Amino acid sequence: MRRPMVAGNWKMHGTRASVAELSLNLKNLVLPSGIEVAVFPPALFIGQVIDELSETEIIVGAQNSAVQPEQGALTGEVAPSQLAEVGCKLVLIGHSERRQIIGETNEVLIHKFAAAQAGGLKPVLCVGETLAEREAGKTLEVVGRQLGSIIDALGVAVFANAVIAYEPVWAIGTGLTASPQQAQDVHAAIRAQLASLDAEVAANMQLLYGGSVKAANAAELFGMPDIDGGLIGGASLNADEFGAICRAAGN
Ligand code: 13P
Repeated sequence: MRRPMVAGNWKMHGTRASVAELSLNLKNLVLPSGIEVAVFPPALFIGQVIDELSETEIIVGAQNSAVQPEQGALTGEVAPSQLAEVGCKLVLIGHSERRQIIGETNEVLIHKFAAAQAGGLKPVLCVGETLAEREAGKTLEVVGRQLGSIIDALGVAVFANAVIAYEPVWAIGTGLTASPQQAQDVHAAIRAQLASLDAEVAANMQLLYGGSVKAANAAELFGMPDIDGGLIGGASLNADEFGAICRAAGN
């Protein structure tokens, strides 16, 4: 049976001192058993956070990794194998901020996804539509294409070692949250797309919702049948709030 997961994407936030304080507060949380908890610090602080959380069960991931699995001549990038070697387990692939601001395309993300797995990381594939796409009735088409491009290139079996996060772009950092039913509808479509190719992969897939999740709305979202937890931005920078979201996933 798939386990719930709550993951905190710290984005480009933090200093050495603020990260140390957040780690300490996370270390002191009493987290529910039976769920996976992960944090994604900025690359610069990954080693620091792995050390600071070493006595906890909290998994540490990266927000990005290179298009090739191993170290080499690729200025400014970090190889999945390098991240894995310091103890990183997960990597976000295709967050909308990287799709929109950095210009990452589905084509590039295929390479990043494959490289992540080859280098020893589990990809967390992020998908989601913009407000204009939703208003044009294209949500399921857009999300289906983002997922489909990876499946077409690499095969559905790669999703036996991956997580998928549905993050509607219009709900990220805006305070607007998809309603539980809106999120459930997209999650059900994602699971159905996987199930049409591999029922076991679909049944085991951890499907996270992201977009203005906070303690006050988490329980309702996580209560939906195809929502297996959350990818949390702003609210993950506060350990108490993040802990409350984790408890909502544990119930
Ligand atoms: P917020 O929770 O700040 O809306 O961010 C969501 C997100 O982008 C997580 O990856």
